[in-house]
Amino acid sequence: MTGLRWGILATGGIAGAFASDLRTAGLDLVAVGSRSQESADAFAARFDIAHAHPSYEALVSDPDVDIVYVSTPHPMHHENARLALEHGKHVLVEKAFTLNRTQAEDLQQLAAERGLLVMEAMWTRYLPHMVRIRELLADGALGEIRAVSADHTQQLPTDPAHRLNALELGGGALLDLGIYPISFVWDVLGAPTTIRAVGRLVETGADSEVATVMIHESGAVSTTLSSSRGAGPNAASIVGTEARIDIDRVWYTPTTFRVVRPDGTVQEEYVSEVEGRGMQYQALAAERLVRDGLLEGDILPIAESVAIMGALDEIRAQIGVRYPGEEDDRG
Ligand SMILES: NC(=O)c1ccc[n+]([C@@H]2O[C@H](COP(=O)([O-])OP(=O)(O)OC[C@H]3O[C@@H](n4cnc5c(N)ncnc54)[C@H](OP(=O)(O)O)[C@@H]3O)[C@@H](O)[C@H]2O)c1
Repeated sequence: MTGLRWGILATGGIAGAFASDLRTAGLDLVAVGSRSQESADAFAARFDIAHAHPSYEALVSDPDVDIVYVSTPHPMHHENARLALEHGKHVLVEKAFTLNRTQAEDLQQLAAERGLLVMEAMWTRYLPHMVRIRELLADGALGEIRAVSADHTQQLPTDPAHRLNALELGGGALLDLGIYPISFVWDVLGAPTTIRAVGRLVETGADSEVATVMIHESGAVSTTLSSSRGAGPNAASIVGTEARIDIDRVWYTPTTFRVVRPDGTVQEEYVSEVEGRGMQYQALAAERLVRDGLLEGDILPIAESVAIMGALDEIRAQIGVRYPGEEDDRG
């Protein structure tokens, strides 16, 4: 244990899940900041946190905090993460990392200038089953990988004012859900060289369904699907010439997978044993990086988070989704 002291910025749904996992892992959660003292106090009481701040500014100014977890809606990530970096804090930023590539590059540059860690909280990449899958791929267990597919589909609120649907809150299936399968196929196959996307929008102008077909550096093909209107299989497959990996529902959370030969025989079965929701693995990874004096890790280097935001920009351009004020941001 490195003794990094965590501060949580915002008190919404995922902040609670993360706080619980930090406690499960025995990590040092010392502070929370909210736009209101009341919410900060309630959150601090729930997770036994010593410092409850009535503003994000007060949280990032807390000398007892080493690393800030940003869990506001995506349009606020850039401003909130910037604030933390400017106050000398390392920062773990919820997905989608930012609203677009321009904002992501700005955080990358600022963190590098300050010698601080900025990391995207793409927690799935740090889960034990994903670690094992990367080992199998590196060992060539599947032969040549030809294709990867994954979906992230959930039945989420249809209220136009909800974070998922309101453009001013970064609404849309792609940035909330589609980022998981896109980050996953990128992890397995590298950057795409060709991106084709189609989508369906709701009345607010946010996307409710997005499908992508991409070709990657090796020539392999990926398909992804996201939807905020219905729950699909939430499974993933990596198909190689010697075998495939079937990751079971829900593939982006702690789960089981099988290595299956073309004749259907199961070569390996992986059973996951994870305490809590599984968000602690990314926190442990961040702690290891800081302890080792590194500003980024191999699992998801910051340049890859930036490039993925660029791909999401391209997909949004193809399906016609723009966020308020983005024209200026994109130059
Ligand atoms: N890793 C995962 O599995 C996962 C799951 C769900 C969501 N997420 C990500 O986490 C982020 C937050 O999602 P969530 O589901 O936790 O959202 P949420 O429940 O709506 O909470 C967001 C929090 O952000 C703060 N906030 C600041 N400005 C706000 C504004 N203008 N409107 C609403 N809230 C505002 C609020 O905290 P205060 O009132 O305390 O300031 C609010 O409680 C999103 O980027 C999302 O993509 C990740």
